[in-house]
Amino acid sequence: MDDKPRVFVTRRLPAAGLDRVRAACDAEVWDGPLPPPYEVLKEKAAGCDGLVSLLTDRIDAALLDAAPRLRVVSNYAVGFNNVDVPAATARGVRVGNTPGVLTDATADMAFCLLIAAARRVVDGHDYSRSGQWKTWEPLGHLGQDLVGRTLGVVGMGRIGYALAKRCARGWDMQVLYHDMHRNEKAETELGARQVDLDVLLRESDFISVHTDLNEKTRGLFNAERFRQMKPTAVFVNTARGPIVVERDLIEALKSGVIFGAGLDVTDPEPPSSDNPLLRLPNLIVAPHIASATVGTRDAMARICADNLLSGLSGGRMPHCVNPEAEGTGRKSP
Ligand code: DGY
Repeated sequence: MDDKPRVFVTRRLPAAGLDRVRAACDAEVWDGPLPPPYEVLKEKAAGCDGLVSLLTDRIDAALLDAAPRLRVVSNYAVGFNNVDVPAATARGVRVGNTPGVLTDATADMAFCLLIAAARRVVDGHDYSRSGQWKTWEPLGHLGQDLVGRTLGVVGMGRIGYALAKRCARGWDMQVLYHDMHRNEKAETELGARQVDLDVLLRESDFISVHTDLNEKTRGLFNAERFRQMKPTAVFVNTARGPIVVERDLIEALKSGVIFGAGLDVTDPEPPSSDNPLLRLPNLIVAPHIASATVGTRDAMARICADNLLSGLSGGRMPHCVNPEAEGTGRKSP
């Protein structure tokens, strides 16, 4: 009799992690082009001991109740706002995530969006492609300088720090940050200054969001916040779409309240094809690809497998977001 734990994996992952999951578990991998619909996921989870989920999978109380054997949810992401963690904890289900390994890739993407929006790179690319490029224009395509300007980081965690380091050391920027916690390393190594959000918005040339999505940050960037920014400001979000009130951002970009923006995340994802978000010349929208490098996704897959396999064997998970559920966990029948 096969006594391997049963696991449902909601998407094909890099072999660096998936091969180990397949070897150690009785694993079913969803192969559809889109994520499994919620009802399908619930059905699949019903008989499973472990679940490997993506940020596109809603793991809520109803799903956890429908899966009485489920002991571990290993989320293939650092963010875990797709999982109802209190509901998982209450049921003794441990939840894993993949922090650390995507810090540099995400900071690179934030910087990439920042410089591309400041220098109007995508707009220029569209202009060249569409045959509008007739001559060199002294007054055309003017963007914003970067060197010596001020970066405002909202959420000075690992990724915020990595972006600040790039900007402070490579582009001589001053760094302001807003966070509930003080980041002494950013202050001593980068000269960063912790300030109120109002000050940060007023004084920054570039504003980059690196908070998680929670009830305090949902809708944080609204019309009023955009009005507090400089008309030359560039706004970047690589965190989570719902932190921004998108219709307010669209309005701010259309009416010149701010200069430009770069988003790697939207609300919802993807935006519908008629969303004005996809038509603005001063907005760059990437399809949530900040962690999409070969090395980073491999590293995430390895951690994801480690979390799943350690959790299923009753051991300590390397990255567990609800360690309080350890020990209280459901036992395999
Ligand atoms: C995450 O990990 O939370 C990113 O959004 C995707 O890699």
